[in-house]
Amino acid sequence: MSSIDPHKRRHTRVACAEHVVPYLRAEVEGLGHEIQSEDKVSVSIGATLVEALRLTLHLRTAQQVYWQLDKTRCTSLKMLEKWARSYPWEDLIPNDAYLSISSNVAHPSVTNTMYPNLLLKDAIVDRIKERTGERPDSGPDRSGVVIQLVWKGDRAWIYLNVNGTRLSDRGYRKLPHQAPMSEALSSAVLMGMGYDGTQALVNPMCGSGTLAIEAALMMAGRAPGLQRNDASVLHTMLELDDEYLEMRREARKSKPPIAEPMPIIASDHDPAAIDAARRNAKTAGVDHLIEFELCDFRDTPIPPIHDGEHGHVIFNPEYGIRLGETDELRQVYRDIGFFFKDRCRGYTGHVFTGSKSLSTQVRLRASSRLPFNNGNIPCRLLSYELYAEHPDGAGQSAD
Ligand SMILES: C[S@@+](CC[C@H](N)C(=O)[O-])C[C@H]1O[C@@H](n2cnc3c(N)ncnc32)[C@H](O)[C@@H]1O
Repeated sequence: MSSIDPHKRRHTRVACAEHVVPYLRAEVEGLGHEIQSEDKVSVSIGATLVEALRLTLHLRTAQQVYWQLDKTRCTSLKMLEKWARSYPWEDLIPNDAYLSISSNVAHPSVTNTMYPNLLLKDAIVDRIKERTGERPDSGPDRSGVVIQLVWKGDRAWIYLNVNGTRLSDRGYRKLPHQAPMSEALSSAVLMGMGYDGTQALVNPMCGSGTLAIEAALMMAGRAPGLQRNDASVLHTMLELDDEYLEMRREARKSKPPIAEPMPIIASDHDPAAIDAARRNAKTAGVDHLIEFELCDFRDTPIPPIHDGEHGHVIFNPEYGIRLGETDELRQVYRDIGFFFKDRCRGYTGHVFTGSKSLSTQVRLRASSRLPFNNGNIPCRLLSYELYAEHPDGAGQSAD
């Protein structure tokens, strides 16, 4: 019987990429939690470990959920070591477990951040060896128990990383194709567009299909974490297996936001991309909701929008940093603008790009420009209202 109670409410930090906090906040609140604080890359709530584990199943835009085990005042590596050795690790981590440590350290006494990692790992395995006679194995792999150290100024915190691997890695993308957007970023971009699973979605240049698949998961009301069937906390001594099974059973009762699905169309001119996207969608269990088209983006079919319905067209074109030559891409962006004007009346058009100069080639007035990071590349989501009644079928030209 562990001295650590998984049903006790503790400080819980839900982390995401920069610029994603507004969407994460909405998701966490939508799941019934009250936000206690937030910073640029996380929101904090009070949650039991069971509630924290449930979040890992349902959150679309989060990267990690951390459940706080302990905190202390800490001004030196010596203090850190003493504190780490005083924690009852033998009540949390079985001596035959596999342990991994990650850290986020900003302290003047630390020049190599590997050092506090190593110090914490040694403190944990030594204490478990002293108490039980055996020591857990350890390494970089996040398939077992994952402990996170945060040390900033004179404060330090130890968290249990609830899932271990990144929540963005849903498990459906076996075939990434070229320059894919992460699953969590794709969901955040969809939310930034105002997409909520009730509208039509067209995604020309779909690549490995991440945007269309995340949209289909929303439309199906499917919990994004259902593809995984493991979590770091299940490797601890806290005996959450039955609760995990129950929350998965509950999550499987999908709750689609609309009774009749709206069309989702994903197209690309590369047969390998369409093949990857189709297979990824099948693995995610949403291939029946997506129509795949092998074609140039200019030929992508646009389903008619009826009264009271709404639709989005989202492009994530190459932008010259990771792929392609900027000069060759100018015409592509110009043609995206023509495609919006000529073919997408009544829809909202969106371009997600890391190139400001290329985005000006679309030559339509953007109604919003939301910042995101794709990896470490600053990007913008530009949105265009393509009014049905406008003579040009689009917002005013920007030039
Ligand atoms: C940046 S990738 C899209 C990545 C995608 N968001 C994902 O998550 O995998 C751009 C895609 O545009 C496609 N593409 C480029 N030019 C195209 C064109 N003229 N017509 C259709 N697809 C095109 C490429 O084949 C590539 O798959």
